[in-house]
Amino acid sequence: MTTGPIAFTLNGTPRRLPPDTSPSMTLLDWLRGPAALVGTKEGCAEGDCGACTVVLEEADGARVPVNSCLALLGQVHGRCIRTVEGLRGPDGGAHPVQRALAEADATQCGFCTPGIVMTGWAHAREGGDVHDALAGNLCRCTGYRPIVEAFGALQDDGAASPAPPSAPATRLEAPGQVFHRPASLDELLTLRAAHPSAWLLSGGTDLGLRVSERREVPAEVICLSDVPELNCLEATGDGIRLGAAASYRRLLAACEADTGFAPLAALLRRLGSRQIRGMGTVGGNLGTASPIGDALPPLVALGASLRVEGLVGLREMAVEDFLTGYRINALRPGEVIRDLFIPRPPAGSLFAAEKLSKRPDQDITTVGISAVVRFDGTRVVGARIALGGTGPRVERCAPAEAALVGQPWTRETVEIAAAALEAAITPLSDWRGSAEYRRIAAGNLLRRLWHRHPEAA
Ligand SMILES: Cc1cc2nc3c(=O)[nH]c(=O)nc-3n(C[C@H](O)[C@H](O)[C@H](O)COP(=O)(O)OP(=O)(O)OC[C@H]3O[C@@H](n4cnc5c(N)ncnc54)[C@H](O)[C@@H]3O)c2cc1C
Ligand code: FES
Ligand code: FES
Repeated sequence: MTTGPIAFTLNGTPRRLPPDTSPSMTLLDWLRGPAALVGTKEGCAEGDCGACTVVLEEADGARVPVNSCLALLGQVHGRCIRTVEGLRGPDGGAHPVQRALAEADATQCGFCTPGIVMTGWAHAREGGDVHDALAGNLCRCTGYRPIVEAFGALQDDGAASPAPPSAPATRLEAPGQVFHRPASLDELLTLRAAHPSAWLLSGGTDLGLRVSERREVPAEVICLSDVPELNCLEATGDGIRLGAAASYRRLLAACEADTGFAPLAALLRRLGSRQIRGMGTVGGNLGTASPIGDALPPLVALGASLRVEGLVGLREMAVEDFLTGYRINALRPGEVIRDLFIPRPPAGSLFAAEKLSKRPDQDITTVGISAVVRFDGTRVVGARIALGGTGPRVERCAPAEAALVGQPWTRETVEIAAAALEAAITPLSDWRGSAEYRRIAAGNLLRRLWHRHPEAA
């Protein structure tokens, strides 16, 4: 591994940071502190408000908005970053995105505006739904109508991404801290075995909160972004093989390109925001093994499998067997999640993935349900129903599945299955919903499946 300074391209200019700079400092703290670039704002410091949005300019021209309050300097090492100070119009004045927002009266106090400008600059290139683009940016005073109108008229400025720093170091150091960026699977597994207590950092949308909110300073971090095997994405007729460190943004694009995965695409579009999906990964969702991890119910319902690897070898298992308890998974010491395979739903089956949350966007699940139901004519011949938010882990509901299999796909059958589901679960009460609410909601989500798809597929 080569030790060297943190290096990235900022607003088109190569930067090498002083040797003692903490690789675990958030990009936002560095921008507003040592870099004195205070255009980027801090609101919530937890990925929710988007005031801190900056854009990663990718080699393929993609513009990925991210929350600089969650991104660590070691994570953006080797990348190209653009902040609001790096936007200019052709005349050297305000950029057309900035002009569009000003002319639409889309800014009052202006606190959210730099983040919204950066989101808009990325959106002008990436396209898609305006509301989806804005889901990660809060504005407390303007009202969204003028912002949405301004976004609707944005056009890509056509500028190419600048070059990233060449041959960036793979080991970053500061007093009491080491940040590893292994470039191969062998290197990763060797590091993992040697440093069992190091943070294993993927997108950092969970781990980053420990820095931004709790102000923890990890002594050792192993970052997964540069390991090719963990970043693969291959879509075939059978399904999608996805590296554990590939972002939701990339998985969403693959799901949108295949109608068989349309319900998964619709669910992923509601996972966090574009900023969160630009960094967050399915590997991280599996790593946390949270009962409300959004990617987990569809993976379980589809029968997805994953491969974990350590120096002692490779193990393959079903995702449902990987999730063993409340925030507990089957990883053994020294192992990492390498990749997963998401099978395409069988032809002629019904695949559904539903998420119930207080807001449609940028909100954590209260109850989630995913199902794959197979038919022979109008009779159900197979059912996999996975629930999230109704117990300590995401898991299948065997009584509900048993109530469906062998029966005609009718409202009466689904009613019996929903009652079995309600009787089988023991949800918790918390501020998102009482146990009773969750029980009724989970049953109703199953009933909703039938209402949405009353015909056998
Ligand atoms: C504002 C905000 C909104 C969010 N919205 C949602 C949402 O709607 N739905 C949802 O499900 N989640 C949501 N999250 C949570 C988070 O985005 C997801 O859990 C995401 O999948 C985490 O992935 P990551 O790559 O960022 O994980 P990281 O933060 O990098 O890692 C999370 C954990 O997984 C471990 N890990 C990561 N990769 C591996 C690997 N390859 N092998 C072994 N262990 C690994 C890490 O060590 C760590 O313990 C949100 C988070 C924020 C901040
Ligand atoms: S400061 Fe609110 S998302 Fe980063
Ligand atoms: S203009 Fe004030 S918060 Fe958006």
